[in-house]
Amino acid sequence: MPVITEIEDLKRIYKRRVPKMFYDYCESGSWTEQTFRDNCTDFDLIRLRQRVAVDMQGRSTASTMIGEDVSMPVALAPVGMTGMQRADGEIHAARAAEKFGVPFTLSTMSICSIEDVAAHTSKPFWFQLYVMRDEDFVDRMLQRAKDAGCSALVLTLDLQILGQRHKDLKNGLSAPPKLTPSVMADLATKWGWGMDMLRTKRRDFGNIVGHAKGVSNVNSLMAWTAQQFDPQLDWEKVRRIKEKWGGKLILKGILDAEDARMALDVGADAIIVSNHGGRQLDGALSSIRMLPQIVSAVGDDVEIHVDGGIRSGQDVLKALAMGAQGTYIGRAFIYGLGAMGEAGVTRALEVIHRELDLSMALCGRKSVEGLDRDVLLVDEAFH
Ligand code: FNR
Repeated sequence: MPVITEIEDLKRIYKRRVPKMFYDYCESGSWTEQTFRDNCTDFDLIRLRQRVAVDMQGRSTASTMIGEDVSMPVALAPVGMTGMQRADGEIHAARAAEKFGVPFTLSTMSICSIEDVAAHTSKPFWFQLYVMRDEDFVDRMLQRAKDAGCSALVLTLDLQILGQRHKDLKNGLSAPPKLTPSVMADLATKWGWGMDMLRTKRRDFGNIVGHAKGVSNVNSLMAWTAQQFDPQLDWEKVRRIKEKWGGKLILKGILDAEDARMALDVGADAIIVSNHGGRQLDGALSSIRMLPQIVSAVGDDVEIHVDGGIRSGQDVLKALAMGAQGTYIGRAFIYGLGAMGEAGVTRALEVIHRELDLSMALCGRKSVEGLDRDVLLVDEAFH
């Protein structure tokens, strides 16, 4: 077992273990990937302020996200096809999150169903919804999430039209993979992944399979899903979904102060400042660059979360100090999952937790509560 001290270690093992098609699906952004890259590199423009001779006993990373206690404010972001990175991937990730005391968000595009994840966990998780053209489908998903006891709905607003990722088209991304000669050659070197997949019953689209019935050929994920998203989603529909859901609502994919005000009007409990991990509008600014404007526009009135490019506890610390109450990791936990299943997700969380705790201490802070820009030295791009 290699020594794992940072998220990058998990990524290296992940790359060796998982079929190229699914590695590329995770490790890419849309078009030129500018926004995908900026999400990470913009964190480098923010530096931490070292402080000394401060009593560091009794530190805590505990906090709350939408009123739920968390051992650190780092949730697992919704990631489609998690169950293709590792057999039963959503269950592995949800269990790791539950044990660590952080929220897990199940994607609409999951392989394991809502009910499957609920059956393998004991605490409520969050459910992420994509709004589809078929209103019955949306209603059914809301009902299933309610029945499974999900404690929040994460409604994603930045993917009504699918961004284009070159690698997915070139790889012929599909789930399960179509066995072309190049896919078979790749799979031959990744037999551990294949054995796991053969063992599980969950190789289908758990959440959307009912909806997909009648679509005779669901080979091409991109083509099929692109037809399902509702391009007419507007704030009125968001309002209606909020009413139907009736519980905690988190609006995901807000990257602009005006949209943040709309989200506030609708009555969201929280917003996630996000550009979908650089997978949608290539050329948009990074989430961390947009965060300060959004915090100053609505930060007093709604809870603000952020995702995109978080690969370390230092990144989490910077996001919290910039005004976020909570953060999410997408790829960082997928690397762990693909590398080592549940243990890998736990390892990713441990690495980030340790980095957050130590960095906080070296900045002279004992708690994530009350972190502010005073712990930062910020490049002028952020002013
Ligand atoms: C995503 N993301 C995403 N978001 C969502 O609302 N529903 C989804 O099904 C997916 N699917 C998905 C698949 C993959 C492979 C990735 C990498 C991302 C976006 C995700 O929730 C989150 O916004 C980003 O992953 C955050 O960026 P980092 O942490 O991956 O840099």
